[in-house]
Amino acid sequence: MITFTDRSQSEEIEPHPDLILYFQETQKFDSKLPDDFVNGNEHHNIVSNIEQNIFLLNRLNERKLLNQNNHMIDCGIGLGFTLFDFYLQSLDMDKSFTFTGIEKQKIYTKYIKSNLLDFWNNELLLIEDDIMNHNYKKYNIVYSYTPYRSEKNLREFYNKVSDEIESGSLIIENANSGLGHFDILTNIDSLERLEIDDINIFIKR
Ligand SMILES: C[S@@+](CC[C@H](N)C(=O)[O-])C[C@H]1O[C@@H](n2cnc3c(N)ncnc32)[C@H](O)[C@@H]1O
Repeated sequence: MITFTDRSQSEEIEPHPDLILYFQETQKFDSKLPDDFVNGNEHHNIVSNIEQNIFLLNRLNERKLLNQNNHMIDCGIGLGFTLFDFYLQSLDMDKSFTFTGIEKQKIYTKYIKSNLLDFWNNELLLIEDDIMNHNYKKYNIVYSYTPYRSEKNLREFYNKVSDEIESGSLIIENANSGLGHFDILTNIDSLERLEIDDINIFIKR
């Protein structure tokens, strides 16, 4: 069972029933990760701190940070629980959204395709690739939760995303209240930090 506390309001929130079902399905995942992956520089599927994301689309909307047509991507989608939460949030909004997840590890994409795609009502575009091979120009919300352990790789990734997205597009990291490890995002000149209640997001100038 999952429970959420909206830390900005200090109140308990009931998760969407489909989010609970999705979570339960992800708990059945028991495939073995490749050995080189476990010891490598890339993180495995560690789910975001979901309390940070409560009502986040609404909170962005209230601050006029969304477009009428929004294109959101999770870079390293894992099993998709976090992006699915955003998808459910979007269903109550008067704006349109597309959802894309990119993931390099076939054990995750295979599990999504076999067990989780039905939850998405054909609204997930799943790309099996390395996040460094993708171009982020068309997305106005780029989400990621620290795909790399190393500062160098993380920095290269966020520099690439920041270079490619359009002015006004958002980058949302889950680590370190949105600041990312190693102060990665605060050190990119083309990004401006915005405080949204108790978290930070970044907007391209
Ligand atoms: C910390 S998990 C985050 C999962 C999910 N985005 C979330 O927030 O709940 C990082 C994910 O990024 C994926 N990943 C790491 N390096 C990657 C790369 N170079 N290309 C694509 N996916 C990658 C991992 O396989 C893992 O699923």
